[in-house]
Amino acid sequence: MKPLYALTMTLLAMSLSAGAAPGQVHVSTPATSLLIDASAGEAPRFLYYGARLAADDMSSITEAAPKSFAAYPVYGSYPEKESAMSVTHPDGNMTLDMAVSDVTATGNPDGSQQTVVTMTDRRYPFTLRLNYLTYPGEDVIETWVEAENTGSGTVRLDRFMSGYLPVRNEDVHVSQLYGTWANEGRVEEARLPHGLKVIKNKDGVRNSHTAHAEVMMSLDGPGRERDGRVIGAALCYGGNYKLMFDTDDSGYHHFFAGINEENSAYMLDPGETFVTPPLALTYSTNGMGGVSRNFHRWGRNHKLAHGNEPRKVLLNSWEGVYFDINQAGMEAMMTDIADMGGELFVMDDGWFGTRYPRDNDSTSLGDWTVDTRKLPGGIKALCDAAEERGIDFGIWIEPEMTNTVSEFFEKHPDYVINAPGRDLVQGRGGTQLVLDLANPEVRDMMVNMVDTLMAANPRIDYIKWDANAPIMSHGSKYLPADRQSHLYIEYHRGLRDVIDRIREKYPDVTIQACASGGGRANWGMLPGFDEFWVSDNTDAVQRIFMQWGTSYFFPAIAMASHISASPNHQTRRILPLKFRTDVAMSGRLGMEIQPRDMTDEEKGQTRRAIADYKRVRDVVQTGDLYRLLSPYDGKGVASLMYVDSDRADEAVFFWWKFVQECAMDIPRVTMDGLDPDRLYRVEELNRIDPTPLPYEGKTFSGRFLMDHGLEMYPGHTGEWNAANDWSSRVLHLTAAE
Ligand code: GLA
Repeated sequence: MKPLYALTMTLLAMSLSAGAAPGQVHVSTPATSLLIDASAGEAPRFLYYGARLAADDMSSITEAAPKSFAAYPVYGSYPEKESAMSVTHPDGNMTLDMAVSDVTATGNPDGSQQTVVTMTDRRYPFTLRLNYLTYPGEDVIETWVEAENTGSGTVRLDRFMSGYLPVRNEDVHVSQLYGTWANEGRVEEARLPHGLKVIKNKDGVRNSHTAHAEVMMSLDGPGRERDGRVIGAALCYGGNYKLMFDTDDSGYHHFFAGINEENSAYMLDPGETFVTPPLALTYSTNGMGGVSRNFHRWGRNHKLAHGNEPRKVLLNSWEGVYFDINQAGMEAMMTDIADMGGELFVMDDGWFGTRYPRDNDSTSLGDWTVDTRKLPGGIKALCDAAEERGIDFGIWIEPEMTNTVSEFFEKHPDYVINAPGRDLVQGRGGTQLVLDLANPEVRDMMVNMVDTLMAANPRIDYIKWDANAPIMSHGSKYLPADRQSHLYIEYHRGLRDVIDRIREKYPDVTIQACASGGGRANWGMLPGFDEFWVSDNTDAVQRIFMQWGTSYFFPAIAMASHISASPNHQTRRILPLKFRTDVAMSGRLGMEIQPRDMTDEEKGQTRRAIADYKRVRDVVQTGDLYRLLSPYDGKGVASLMYVDSDRADEAVFFWWKFVQECAMDIPRVTMDGLDPDRLYRVEELNRIDPTPLPYEGKTFSGRFLMDHGLEMYPGHTGEWNAANDWSSRVLHLTAAE
């Protein structure tokens, strides 16, 4: 056991936390501070989180804010309060009584700074380490907890949250994302009520179709985009989560975030350490927009795979042909996307299965061998065909799953999740089952499958990794009886292990996290993935709302956004190509369509749009996002822009009108993020109108554009299908030198 009080602690804390008073730990970023009182021998106290503190603030803070709360509340001394951690010791004692025994701060090789506050139970052999990680230049603090059993009996972890934050109860409004399949990422905002507000997931496999594991807390009433104090919180975890706000009689909201402990009690063996996923916190005085930009930058720089490398324009085969895969059809699609200027073709579902061919969604998952009836030349012939056309090739897989109708399941019935002794509960297609990733053999088999595919076809440039079922009947044939409650956690440890091993061997491949659409939009997944599929719903109008919400926490580079057919396959809505394209161009642009069904004129228009997109994709994908006018405001218009993050040299402005009424009020949108003192030249992208906009080629100061803005001309003219209900504009602004 560690000594109860490390004598060096106070000195250490002082020298590592510039300006902090004795006992204080100051975790800081360029614009924010988190202050904790970690005096030796005491339970650590939370003192402050918000705008960056001066040294004088720190020394006087306890006088200014006399109420203080635990930095990490544990169940025990004040059991009437919610706790972040509760355990049952081997002798049945259910309390913890933690005291600070050590504080360290370390610079990691990647430049990040890690502060660890170690607490030891005063009587029991149990240690908690509160971790705080910051990166140079990023206004995000990641926090997580390690729980170590230093005794000789098994401790049961009954709750094990990643972090806790008290927030003064004033007029706090929480913005969260909700939804369902084909309608993910919807924004909802409400004032925090008294009592308990819980946002949670129990899908087991995916976790962002319905609720999301990220929230914004606007401290000054309903959240505003451009100003106001806002805290952002994102739990970086792909599995079941729980975010809780407990608003009690203390005058504070008590925010907790972590793995959902329901049906997940964790048996911590002697010597074992349980590590929670990180909770990323950010704070901005620039409103919700400021919080989003903080998350986007931190995510691109430190989480998302290849977070700053521009993404290719692709065509995915799914909505174009569904399961109707064959060599000629794939080649025709490749020809078309290459002709339109695309750079990658992705063959979706339907290419595999020999004894049981995958002609619909009820068979073959697990049988990852090419259906040579459809593709006689195998994947190699497809890679050849792509290469001949000067584009790359990608492929769809769903490695975590099988179907009862598959050779795989016939061979390995023990590899699936299902409660022992219960009938199989089957999902998609009436036959889909989830593999038991707690089982290392299953994990090896998955790694092997991807390895075999990649080794035989090293030209595969992109993988669409899908996951189309929840955990349906809780039970693992691998885990022992007293560890069945580990299944949800072990599943995600297993997935992480598999992805990490694949990434280690194939670091350059692009991998999309798809999960029945937007089921895996979470920062805990993204270190293994380059992007996610926002939704199976590709309808441009609904996408404006979904992508708007998703952009609260995720950058455009991660949001796969595809031009699809009209009528749309999900909503049946008829939309002009221009509108569909202009919405898709605001994310990672791709296509999800049968190009054969497009007219030559439409192909030409798309070719021009793709060429335009390539000119600005750096700004869209890695620039700073400014949301200007929300689709949720009821004006029938939405607008946002991206500004090149370094010097505001360049910007791309998007404007979409999705309601049509006579004499409709069209609001003028003021821009944001530009340099007020520079001049910007305006150029319309993806222009279809024969007559340019009156301000085409004209120059305006950043100040004018941000203070006044440009009037939008709502109607399109010229083409047979151009004058209709829908209109949209994409403007490219370039600063004059
Ligand atoms: C899921 C995905 C789709 C598509 C199909 C294929 O629904 O979200 O994009 O890949 O599976 O079966």
